[in-house]
Amino acid sequence: MSAQTPQFVELDGRVLPAARATISVFDRGLLYGDGLFETLRAYHGKPFTLDEHVARLQASARLLGIGFPRKAWRRSIEILLKRNHLDDAWVRITLTRGAGRPGPLPVGRQRPTVLITTGRLDPAIAPAQRRGVRVTLVAFSRSGFLGEHKVLGFLPSVLGKVIAKRHHTFEAIFVNGEGYLTEGTTSNIFLWQRGRLITPPVDGILPGLTRRLVIRAAAADGIPVAERPLAPHELREGDEAFLTSSLVEIVPIVGVDAQAIGDGEVGPRTRRLQDLYRQMVDQGLGRR
Ligand SMILES: Cc1ncc(COP(=O)(O)O)c(C=O)c1O
Repeated sequence: MSAQTPQFVELDGRVLPAARATISVFDRGLLYGDGLFETLRAYHGKPFTLDEHVARLQASARLLGIGFPRKAWRRSIEILLKRNHLDDAWVRITLTRGAGRPGPLPVGRQRPTVLITTGRLDPAIAPAQRRGVRVTLVAFSRSGFLGEHKVLGFLPSVLGKVIAKRHHTFEAIFVNGEGYLTEGTTSNIFLWQRGRLITPPVDGILPGLTRRLVIRAAAADGIPVAERPLAPHELREGDEAFLTSSLVEIVPIVGVDAQAIGDGEVGPRTRRLQDLYRQMVDQGLGRR
């Protein structure tokens, strides 16, 4: 644990020092990746779009037959953030099916494991938002119907991140078996093409909550948005492009490996969406 890692976590409803938080060696999250997670962002100590994150988690848990705890999520998260002296931060909810008899088939009724962790935002995010980033394409993806859920088995994203780091780029973009771009390892992707905004459809990819907000903001701003498969050459030849996620918000893409997108600078259309997103965050927090 680094010196910066906050001290406290909430495990199964108890706030305790991270070093004292223990999970069974038979936890199915550990043994089979049998669980889900959500990553969200807190601003001024308040979780943003928490209800939507909890709804996504609950919908996936229901589909997979994982018990879903009734819980005052907002209260838990705000207490934990305070306890860890965090203001602007990441928050992660991890939900596993719980400990059970070893073997892939869940037997009987497990009590789910619920873990909430928090931490300081990556300092690379703010400069990435200002200056834009380069991405790398990788020839694999999170796939099938599970790709639409934030399941624990996150190896495609782990490997994608390793490859992106090796290429000195910010993010890896998955390319599926049909040769289309799907999403980033922890983000969704958008492209500007002749004034129109294009993003891959939610078909085997995570229906990002930031993606949804951006589509809504763009539509309200009179920008035509198309959800359709995107080919890698379209990204390379696009006018502007960007990544979205709860943690990085909107990060402009200015190149694919060594090749620039457009003029290689952050474009005005993406800047405008960043401003609109900032307004949505302010409004969302103000409502509480
Ligand atoms: C694979 C993947 N796609 C997209 C996203 C963006 O989702 P959201 O905007 O809900 O944070 C994430 C977020 O971590 C992700 O892991």
